[in-house]
Amino acid sequence: MRYTGLCLLASALNTAVAYASTDDSNTSVNSGGQKVIIENDWNSGSAGQFLMALDYGWHVLGLVGDTSDSWAMHCSYMALALLEIGNLSCIPVHKGSDYPLLMTPKLMQTYQTLQGQLPWRGVFKPYNETAEKLGADPTDGDPSRVNRAAFVQGYPNKTLAGVNAAAWMVEQVHKYPGEVSIYSGGALTNIAMAVRMDSEFASLTKGLYIMGGFIDTNLLMTSGNSNQADINTDFNFKADPEAAKIALTADFPNITLVSAASNAIFPDDAYLDDVDKVDNVYTNLAREVTQTYLPFWDEGTMMVMLDPSTVLNQTSFYVNVDTSYYSPTYGNIWGHQKEFVPAMQDLREVNYVYAINATAMRTALKRALQNPKTCP
Ligand SMILES: *[C@@H]1O[C@H](CO)[C@@H](O)[C@H](O)[C@H]1NC(C)=O
Ligand SMILES: *[C@@H]1O[C@H](CO)[C@@H](O)[C@H](O)[C@H]1NC(C)=O
Ligand SMILES: *[C@@H]1O[C@H](CO)[C@@H](O)[C@H](O)[C@H]1NC(C)=O
Ligand SMILES: *[C@@H]1O[C@H](CO)[C@@H](O)[C@H](O)[C@H]1NC(C)=O
Ligand SMILES: *[C@@H]1O[C@H](CO)[C@@H](O)[C@H](O)[C@H]1NC(C)=O
Ligand SMILES: *[C@@H]1O[C@H](CO)[C@@H](O)[C@H](O)[C@H]1NC(C)=O
Ligand SMILES: *[C@@H]1O[C@H](CO)[C@@H](O)[C@H](O)[C@H]1NC(C)=O
Repeated sequence: MRYTGLCLLASALNTAVAYASTDDSNTSVNSGGQKVIIENDWNSGSAGQFLMALDYGWHVLGLVGDTSDSWAMHCSYMALALLEIGNLSCIPVHKGSDYPLLMTPKLMQTYQTLQGQLPWRGVFKPYNETAEKLGADPTDGDPSRVNRAAFVQGYPNKTLAGVNAAAWMVEQVHKYPGEVSIYSGGALTNIAMAVRMDSEFASLTKGLYIMGGFIDTNLLMTSGNSNQADINTDFNFKADPEAAKIALTADFPNITLVSAASNAIFPDDAYLDDVDKVDNVYTNLAREVTQTYLPFWDEGTMMVMLDPSTVLNQTSFYVNVDTSYYSPTYGNIWGHQKEFVPAMQDLREVNYVYAINATAMRTALKRALQNPKTCP
């Protein structure tokens, strides 16, 4: 996920859909339902994602903060604060790995001198004291710092449940074999670590849903404005290419990539105003921090997981990830049909969503923001 210069971005949105699977009988969270671990590089605009899962009656086992747009520590604190403002602190937050598997700010900065600057540089952007004083999420420098100035929603008073997210995820899937869906809105570092740590991890989950995996978007990156280049970069994968490869070749029962489909759904002021007609901490925050030039990446991905019937068009193919540092497509995916899968690699088939019902997604997000559940 992402936000922008000053602070944040993203969450949000919209209108009225069929009330699908919401459980109205119990307004408390985690009173049953399908289990999910929601991992992201949280910022002030991210609350809509876990609120959507709760609205659909899902049992959110916990949130994981990862390193991608900013450092895992800062993002985990963001998650703590987003839960706290809505009395949702019964949902634990686990901090992920500080660093990607191989990538570092220095390596990324060097890569960019070889292959061109990324439109969005996330955590790898050189440290800028002025920007952080003004409220930017931390980049580069010390991964353990948390920037108070970035907390539009208030600085958390709660503490992390743990700082070894991968180990915690392994533990959870053994506790609930076959029941836990994993959602990833940031880099895949912690998921790759869990896969490597425990050979049963992937197969014991219910499936993996990923915001990322853009394909054939290079032409879009050459045309239009820099935002067009930005939103088609696949930053979540480029932030940790090796982790993306490990995750996408692991034996999850089901892997679903949502990227271009989410890229087609944007917030707009009318929608945000409509959401904010109900006055609560989450609608107010969404109105304040959501950037209308960035798509509903993570909310779209969440929609696909919560209600696959909102997928309008999808396909499947075998997928590889470019892990060659000297390649301009380092971190990007490459697809194959079965007949042409490389013999010496254990690639696997993934679902690839082309299009989501935008009305349904906007409605689900609006409902979740306007009617947030709380802890018992
Ligand atoms: C999209 O969802 C809305 C409900 O939110 C529904 O009325 C509409 O028929 C759906 N569109 C498609 C193409 O399925
Ligand atoms: C709702 O669920 C919570 C948590 O399981 C439980 O403590 C509470 O009694 C439930 N409330 C109702 C009205 O069922
Ligand atoms: C933490 O407590 C302080 C003091 O009561 C409050 O101002 C702040 O908003 C709280 N943080 C959150 C995230 O609710
Ligand atoms: C959270 O709980 C406090 C204390 O019960 C209450 O005053 C506040 O309105 C609640 N906030 C939300 C968003 O539910
Ligand atoms: C640092 O951030 C400030 C505030 O956003 C900006 O004006 C300045 O250009 C940035 N400096 C660099 C070197 O990017
Ligand atoms: C895997 O996920 C896709 C996309 O959500 C869904 O259409 C499909 O039914 C799922 N398959 C299984 C076996 O769960
Ligand atoms: C699904 O998307 C693909 C790729 O854009 C397109 O070729 C195909 O016509 C679409 N199918 C439907 C039913 O819309």
